[in-house]
Amino acid sequence: MTTDPYDLPDVSGLVVGVLGGTGDQGRGLALRLARAGQKVIIGSRAAERAEAAAAELGLGVEGADNAECARRSDVVIIAVPWDGHAATLTALREELRGKLVVDCVNPLGFDKKGAYAIKPEEGSAAEQAAALLPESRVTAAFHHLSAVLLQDESVERIDTDVMVLGEKRADTDIVQALAARIPGMRGVFAGRLRGAHQVEALVANLISVNRRYKAHAGLRVTDV
Ligand SMILES: NC(=O)c1ccc[n+]([C@@H]2O[C@H](COP(=O)([O-])OP(=O)(O)OC[C@H]3O[C@@H](n4cnc5c(N)ncnc54)[C@H](OP(=O)(O)O)[C@@H]3O)[C@@H](O)[C@H]2O)c1
Repeated sequence: MTTDPYDLPDVSGLVVGVLGGTGDQGRGLALRLARAGQKVIIGSRAAERAEAAAAELGLGVEGADNAECARRSDVVIIAVPWDGHAATLTALREELRGKLVVDCVNPLGFDKKGAYAIKPEEGSAAEQAAALLPESRVTAAFHHLSAVLLQDESVERIDTDVMVLGEKRADTDIVQALAARIPGMRGVFAGRLRGAHQVEALVANLISVNRRYKAHAGLRVTDV
């Protein structure tokens, strides 16, 4: 039996948590999802920082420490820096059990030539998450977004596609549907987690595009 790839589930009732949601990417995603009507909880290492960020955003967004954020959410976006990725997930293994985890972490280094991709031992940040969280449903998405555009309240549409990777179709469909709630954005299935490194690494190229053209580049997958 085949299923229409454009037929996505209704995700409007899901609670979305954002670990590291006080940062640029997490705050931007929280804003966009909350604007689309999603219930969002921002997570932080310090509850009061999350509460302050949530109060600034309004739109019913709540703040909590990362553990409570994970516990109360159905879908948990990981938006912490690569440096803190493994330790954050290891500490939250219990709270993340059974949850749909969406990793958007790009392991990058910077030197005088610009940004370059780091290849983690596990293959990618997303595969590291899957290894550290064997009882969670790990997916990868939202790597190619500009946090500047996400956070700019005057920008109505985020015209970009989001590559969504994961092992289970039911999970990647949910993440695609979440992306599709944001005006201008689509979620496009882009394979299993073993393909996550290419997707994470491409951000180094987008940073070069942004520097040359003074842009906030996104991506479109054509003919889909
Ligand atoms: N910025 C972008 O345009 C963009 C686009 C796509 C993907 N991403 C990815 O999204 C992630 C977050 O990016 P960002 O620019 O938002 O980063 P960021 O602002 O530097 O960090 C996000 C939040 O993570 C928390 N944090 C910082 N160091 C941590 C550590 N060692 N352990 C645990 N938590 C820590 C901080 O929150 P608290 O201090 O409140 O805990 C911080 O506000 C990165 O992995 C990046 O690759 C970023």
